Amino acid sequence: MVACFSKQAQATELTSFARVKLVDAQGQPIKASALGSAEAYLFNYPYASTPSFLINLGKPAPDGNKLVASDGNEYAWRGGVGANKSVVAYTAICAHQLAYPTRDASLITYNPNTSEIAGRGGVITCCAHNSVYDPAQGARVLSGPAAGPLSAVALEYDVATDELYATGVYGGTLFDDFFKAYKTQLNAELGAGKARELVTAMAKVVPFAEYSKVRVQC
Ligand code: FES
Repeated sequence: MVACFSKQAQATELTSFARVKLVDAQGQPIKASALGSAEAYLFNYPYASTPSFLINLGKPAPDGNKLVASDGNEYAWRGGVGANKSVVAYTAICAHQLAYPTRDASLITYNPNTSEIAGRGGVITCCAHNSVYDPAQGARVLSGPAAGPLSAVALEYDVATDELYATGVYGGTLFDDFFKAYKTQLNAELGAGKARELVTAMAKVVPFAEYSKVRVQC
């Protein structure tokens, strides 16, 4: 789905939300080392209606990237987590016109293999208008009309248990615009007012193929 409106990016610095444990469909903690790198996973965070990618890039994604959000403010990406520093998470809402994964379909996807428009793999593409993001570098824009990176989800890794937690979001979030643009759809899907309910305690992680029936590649 794609919205048409004027965006107002907010908060390039970290906005803390509930510290939630990432769990599987049975409520068991996700183990970072068990995440496959051949597909992306999805979980809703920080709101009940806002999807986020969880991706094991299969190689370390070091921090140190200085990024510029859509509002022109600079921020630092924190890098990947996990034993191999290869696990990253981003809000799966396109920074261009807010395409996002629904249960039926998604125009924004992770491409572990070669993307036609990027000419390489390991990228997030939004086929609504061909924006390409690099998840190994804070989801900075590689090409296309998006004016800034995807918002990053701050992850915490427990070395002792190999478990993952989401603790906040940074890098120019667009949640208010998202709620405004899709109010009717979100109310129909979740019930009036439910879209802004915050996720607390646990967030269920599912393979992307289970979250969206059709995942458009480009
Ligand atoms: S909504 Fe336009 S590129 Fe994603």
